[in-house]
Amino acid sequence: MSVPSSNDSILSVRGLTKVFYSGVFRRQATVAVKDVWFEMKPGTILSLIGESGSGKTTIGKLILKLIQPTSGQIIYKGTDIAHLKNKEQLRDYYRKVQGVFQDPFATFNPLYRVDRIFNMVYSSFGLDQGKKDEQVREVLESVNLDPDRTLGKFPHQLSGGQLQRLLIARTLLMDVDILIADELISMLDASTRIGILNLLVDICKSRGMSILFITHDLNLGYYISDYTLIMYKGRLVEKGDTKKIYENPVHPYTKMLFESVPDIHRKWDRSEEFLPEHVVQEVREFYAANEGRGFEDVEEEHTVLFSDR
Ligand SMILES: Nc1ncnc2c1ncn2[C@@H]1O[C@H](COP(=O)(O)OP(=O)(O)O)[C@@H](O)[C@H]1O
Ligand SMILES: [Mg+2]
Repeated sequence: MSVPSSNDSILSVRGLTKVFYSGVFRRQATVAVKDVWFEMKPGTILSLIGESGSGKTTIGKLILKLIQPTSGQIIYKGTDIAHLKNKEQLRDYYRKVQGVFQDPFATFNPLYRVDRIFNMVYSSFGLDQGKKDEQVREVLESVNLDPDRTLGKFPHQLSGGQLQRLLIARTLLMDVDILIADELISMLDASTRIGILNLLVDICKSRGMSILFITHDLNLGYYISDYTLIMYKGRLVEKGDTKKIYENPVHPYTKMLFESVPDIHRKWDRSEEFLPEHVVQEVREFYAANEGRGFEDVEEEHTVLFSDR
């Protein structure tokens, strides 16, 4: 396997940092994402794994250009997306880089028939209207939806899994390069999940799409991804080839994740705001013992954050 280089990347994230400021009188800073580096390559799935609040969604939003970075760069096909300024450049970017989120019902307007998401693609991106019906039927069939039982329906007449398939069909219609799938299937039941996962893998491999699969579920990450990014408190602490990380985790946070594997089918409890204190302590000791090392490769395609300074 070749070493990933920025040459074959479609998107490079370089030193990405996002600080949120809140509070009117006393400004409070939250460092949501700090000095994050990774590459996305066509035809590969990258999973981004970490507990609630670790900064996963913020990375997704930065790539989707929904929010602006505090510092760092996102390079898409050789151009920093911060420099996309004119309408056409932005339109092209929003056409090629798309997100699908956790709650499909929230994406659809309940007052309109689901066909509207396809009509909007044609009107917003200037596609040939004459081919619309044929093309829409074709993409619906490729996500295993029966056009005759789907088109003309209102969102509440379809299941969550069917709505997610519709959103995936839309990305096919637009010939998307990069799909950000944020907790995509966590709302779906087990049998629907596997169908959506297989569909994503299939699309990625057959169309050369690049997928950032955001999840808090280690098993899903292993099942679906070629590369893995482990996130802890806004930083990527371990990244590289999925098999290598799962077989040989090095960072204490990653090790902790794997130690709790019997519990991993259990979803992260969103009310558990804080990590167990012993984990926080172990990470602190690990960084102290390795001070000054920063990121180091432990083997080919496997990098670990040994210290945070
Ligand atoms: N718009 C915002 N304003 C202030 N803080 C935010 C905002 N969005 C996210 N955060 C904070 O940034 C951190 C990372 O959040 P997020 O990226 O949503 O994490 P995750 O998706 O991993 O659960 C959290 O501490 C969260 O509270
Ligand atoms: Mg999130």
